[in-house]
Amino acid sequence: MSTASGVFLKTAEEIELMRKANLIVAKVLGQLREVIKPGVTTFQLDKISEQTCHDLGGVPAFKGYYGYPASLCASINEEVVHGIPSRKRILREGDIVSLDFGAIYQGFYGDAAITVPVGTIKGRNCELLKITEEALLKGIEQAQIGKRVADIAKAVQTHVETAGFSVVRQYVGHGVGAHLHEEPEVPNYVEGLGKSSPRLKKGMVIAIEPMVNMGTHKVKVLEDQWTVVTQDRKPSAHFEHSVAITEDGPYILSLWDPGVGDTVER
Ligand code: MF3
Ligand code: CO
Repeated sequence: MSTASGVFLKTAEEIELMRKANLIVAKVLGQLREVIKPGVTTFQLDKISEQTCHDLGGVPAFKGYYGYPASLCASINEEVVHGIPSRKRILREGDIVSLDFGAIYQGFYGDAAITVPVGTIKGRNCELLKITEEALLKGIEQAQIGKRVADIAKAVQTHVETAGFSVVRQYVGHGVGAHLHEEPEVPNYVEGLGKSSPRLKKGMVIAIEPMVNMGTHKVKVLEDQWTVVTQDRKPSAHFEHSVAITEDGPYILSLWDPGVGDTVER
């Protein structure tokens, strides 16, 4: 989405609050990944995400945002983003499902997404997931003081297109903070960015979120006014992290290593 409302630089203290918001998001996504298997509905996933978010002291961020009717976005196969959870949507063996979740904690937003296989998936889908996640990490590597938004875009796009996939143009990453969507926009493609895209500054926090299609980059919105699908109905993947620009380099706020055993206190 791209309803930007200004660039807001964050203090170290604010970044730590955002870390907490994003840790809630990371834990919700980690839990969803565990429960995903054939037969589970996206409605069930929505309910679990809501419960876990509340248990961790957060408020689901997407519910009611421009009228969005759920807490989770769950987008299956050819659905790119903003799939609305439903009792009728049952995950099947071989599906891929993109899970996008946001949480508010102490006035700050966390935002992240993963794409998860349901059971065993076919080789090309596996490649799509791998390349999309790698593209996100390549983008994050560029999230350094003094670099530009275009450096992120270029790193993402090059990795995706070298693998023979395409990046979505219609939707982009964004600044994140006390608003879900702040400036700057963070596209995953360089076309139109020119030589002077926004410079990355200390204290910026951005959500980098490549949406990668197996076929055409073109997408359309379904009649429900939310679900974005690929025009050719080929599969799509989505990975997202919220990343702070710091003197020590990129700080991935939405990273969670389940082995570390950290806690988020209420
Ligand atoms: N993570 C998405 C984004 O960055 C989800 C927002 S969609 C809505 O734009 F459901 F909140 F509207
Ligand atoms: Co986002």
